[in-house]
Amino acid sequence: DPTSTPAWKELKKLSKSGKKFPLRQAFSTDPDRFKKMALCADSLVFDYSKNRVDDVIMDRLFQLANQTRVQDALAQMLSGEPINRTEHRAVLHPALRSFSGKPWKVDGKDVMPDVIAVRRKMKRFADAIHQGTHRGYTRKKIRTIVNIGIGGSDLGPLMVTEALRPYWMKGIHVYFVSNVDGAHIHETLKQVDPETTLFLIASKTFTTQETMTNAHTARSWFLQHAKKESHIAKHFIALSTNEKAVSAFGIDPKNMFEFWDWVGGRFSVASAIGLSVMIAVGPEIFEEFLSGMHLMDIHAAEAVGRDNAPLILALLNIWNTAVLSTKSRAVIPYSFDLRRFPAYLQQLIMESNGKSVTMDGSSLTLESGPLVWGAPGTNGQHAFMQLLHQGSDVVPVDFIGFARSSANDESRNELLFTNLLAQSRALAFGRNIDELPDRSATPHRVFAGNRPSTTIVAPELSAAVLGQLI
Ligand code: F6P
Repeated sequence: DPTSTPAWKELKKLSKSGKKFPLRQAFSTDPDRFKKMALCADSLVFDYSKNRVDDVIMDRLFQLANQTRVQDALAQMLSGEPINRTEHRAVLHPALRSFSGKPWKVDGKDVMPDVIAVRRKMKRFADAIHQGTHRGYTRKKIRTIVNIGIGGSDLGPLMVTEALRPYWMKGIHVYFVSNVDGAHIHETLKQVDPETTLFLIASKTFTTQETMTNAHTARSWFLQHAKKESHIAKHFIALSTNEKAVSAFGIDPKNMFEFWDWVGGRFSVASAIGLSVMIAVGPEIFEEFLSGMHLMDIHAAEAVGRDNAPLILALLNIWNTAVLSTKSRAVIPYSFDLRRFPAYLQQLIMESNGKSVTMDGSSLTLESGPLVWGAPGTNGQHAFMQLLHQGSDVVPVDFIGFARSSANDESRNELLFTNLLAQSRALAFGRNIDELPDRSATPHRVFAGNRPSTTIVAPELSAAVLGQLI
């Protein structure tokens, strides 16, 4: 229980001053504040200087991490122990993106040979689609992929496919169908040709109501055109852990790309669930994406204290949510291609933390976690930023920006990036009466500042950087 630790008691004592933490003054009295509160992790720069923290608060937060043995818990997870206690399962998704050559064991068995075999099978299949050796039932090339899934079997591949738009292979179009509302599947089917379409039925359990309903609709629609059941083999692929249910649906297990019960749905984009991404961008870019995740896995496990960026983000989240009682957390990428990132993080964070009991079943003594939401900048500036600057609630923000444009338009990127910096600056420093051009409607135009934000910057939105961000 974190609230029974000495560090927690100290943090509680600091909460009153934390709420009023004067960010403007903190920067003017310490010109090195940015240098002290920014770090590089792989390709990313993390600037947490605009949070309501000083050295004393950071020290207490790291003490909290030590006293609750956070790094031990991570090590336990990475060693394949069954830390998912209710289902008695290991939680080993980092193995999916490992290139270290070391074994990752579950129940004493190295899972890497199976992981590598599925990676190779995915690559062979993606190559066969691109080279036209896997063709449809009338021998036409496959041009359209429809991924049918929901939750982690949709949000991950959808977000990553959109984010990697500059790398899309020519001649392939990918659709994602998730909602059980018929509008989603029927509108998609109107746009695709059965002779050139491949359906990926993406479901860890292969029992999820929405996915199976949509998969059956797609199957009937396909058979209306193709007539013969034997043609299904060329047009329906399963991404799943449940071979029995896949066979019962009518997909031959050799057309199934397997993953395992130690992969939580919300972490599954690095597994066979990523096949739509691999077909969209090609196996090399997909591997680059996995390597980016792997780099950050190593960083999270090995970097110590103030050099560990994910640990710092986690502690700031605890400080804001559990100590200073903020209720939500906005994620605002200044990148149109990352527009689905907030929705992806919503599942990743809120489905992971959305419990009111601890691992052993006793009631929580602190908040579960914040409501995570967001939209890309600059759109958010013309929608919700007003309330973040001047509304009564404090909402910590994570900004994400890129030094180079993925649209090859550097002047627009400068516009985009300066907007990001201006927003973080205005949140932190506010605007006082002396900074107003005139004195009309003063109370409506000044704003107090001291609103926390973290800024993550990368050179560009490459596949490796996207992996690191996740
Ligand atoms: O909403 C619960 C959940 O199990 C998610 O964790 C998961 O990503 C989603 O449903 C879809 O599950 P499946 O991949 O088994 O269809």
